[in-house]
Amino acid sequence: MSSGSWAAIDGLLAERLLSPDPVLEAVLRRNVEACLPPIDVSPLQGRFLHLLTRITHARRVLEVGTLGGYSTICMARALPPEGRLVTLELDPHHAEVARANLAWAGVADRVEVRVGRALDLLPGVEEPIDLAFIDADKASSPAYLNWAIRLSRPAAVIVLDNVVRGGAIIDPARQDENVRGVLEALRLMGADPRLDATALQMVGMKGHDGFAMALVI
Ligand code: SAH
Ligand code: DHB
Ligand code: MG
Repeated sequence: MSSGSWAAIDGLLAERLLSPDPVLEAVLRRNVEACLPPIDVSPLQGRFLHLLTRITHARRVLEVGTLGGYSTICMARALPPEGRLVTLELDPHHAEVARANLAWAGVADRVEVRVGRALDLLPGVEEPIDLAFIDADKASSPAYLNWAIRLSRPAAVIVLDNVVRGGAIIDPARQDENVRGVLEALRLMGADPRLDATALQMVGMKGHDGFAMALVI
């Protein structure tokens, strides 16, 4: 099957499983209008993050890589009223668009967008974290993973996006710093006795990629 079919199947699954969501649709339009790259999670992946937030009864969520806040909104909407999400974003324009989207989505009271290099901001993130979604520059994924482990309570869940990268992780010709970062993060996840980890390949409207996921023991 071609990537066109993957996208069409994503469309069918979304049509069958997801309720129409004018807020998230408007967020995607605003992100395009604001010239953000279209690298948000897909609607189905966003619903996965929403369900994971609910399944884990997460109250404190950490996100690394906000973009326009699409994944942020998916997780924030699953928080209880006293729940909090901190999301870290390098690009001030992305953060500004995200803040407007979060207000529009009605979750601004639960979400704090912090602007700067994630590696500079992570030492100031309050513990303990129940759920972390790591989705920023892939070269730094190993460092973000270590920070997420350090900030996690026992039984926290850590999710990494983009661990397959269209198959680049097995292609010697495509071993750039991002692929090396992903490969090292996967190695750490498997080797760390504090983590029980897996990864799932995905195809869909975002091409061929994957999530890695770990339970912090
Ligand atoms: N999670 C978002 C997509 C994030 S895209 C969603 O699914 O909707 C990756 C984001 O990480 C971009 O906005 C990029 O500006 C940001 N980023 C890149 N390097 C970063 C760094 N060093 N620190 C924090 N954010 C970074
Ligand atoms: C890229 C980053 C992402 O977080 C993503 O989901 C897809 C692509 C990128 O930097 O190309
Ligand atoms: Mg991503």
